[in-house]
Amino acid sequence: MKLTLKIWRQADSSDPGGMHTYELDEVSEDMSFLEMLDVLNEQLIEQGEDPVAFDSDCREGICGMCGLMINGDAHGPEVTTTCQLHMRSFSDGETITIEPWRADAFPVLKDLCVDRSAFDRMIASGGYISVNTGSAPEAHSVPVPRDDALRAFNVATCIGCGACVAACPNGSASLFMGAKITHLGELPQGQPERDSRVVNMVAQHDHEGFGGCTNIGQCTAACPKEIPLDVISQLNKDLRTAMRHGH
Ligand code: SF4
Ligand code: FES
Repeated sequence: MKLTLKIWRQADSSDPGGMHTYELDEVSEDMSFLEMLDVLNEQLIEQGEDPVAFDSDCREGICGMCGLMINGDAHGPEVTTTCQLHMRSFSDGETITIEPWRADAFPVLKDLCVDRSAFDRMIASGGYISVNTGSAPEAHSVPVPRDDALRAFNVATCIGCGACVAACPNGSASLFMGAKITHLGELPQGQPERDSRVVNMVAQHDHEGFGGCTNIGQCTAACPKEIPLDVISQLNKDLRTAMRHGH
């Protein structure tokens, strides 16, 4: 495949940045999107140019490091992570536009790399269980209804990639936050801190500069783990309950 790439280049957070155009002549449709960028970077290094900075780690759809805006879609045209996207999803001769996540709470560090530490601070504010659960319990010693266990497991698949924020016109992290609230709130171990968790996480979310949810739904459409929109309803319900309890 031959491709034209229009890529956002930005030296650091103080640089205004801009789009640069590159041509690639030999891309296999079996390459992953990140392998295609590796080929570009080898070409740039050979030419003595600065390679394009982008994040990745596991390259297996697990770690959440690799988000890019591809032709205006978070993680590109498939429901998957950028590292699991393959070039067969594009056509020979196509022009592909590649940008970093765009959100006030995710400032650009360099080129396609953004600072997502706002998510870490949200988790530190309440996205954990600190009760002592002891050693590995006997199976069924704390019965968890099957539907609750399944829901907790399904929403625990959130990898913190930030696509939901990048896709949301408000730059809201409500889907990410709702996934954590629902995951922990479905389990018995999550109950003691349930009220303080939601209050503190929402306060940190707003403090970080994420926007509010207005039920647009782009977050769930962009989510590579298909986290459902109703986790945001759960988030709002838990917040109302916590306020009724005097938080
Ligand atoms: S909810 Fe989905 S899109 Fe948002 S951080 Fe989690 S996995 Fe990524
Ligand atoms: S590099 Fe880990 S999810 Fe893509």
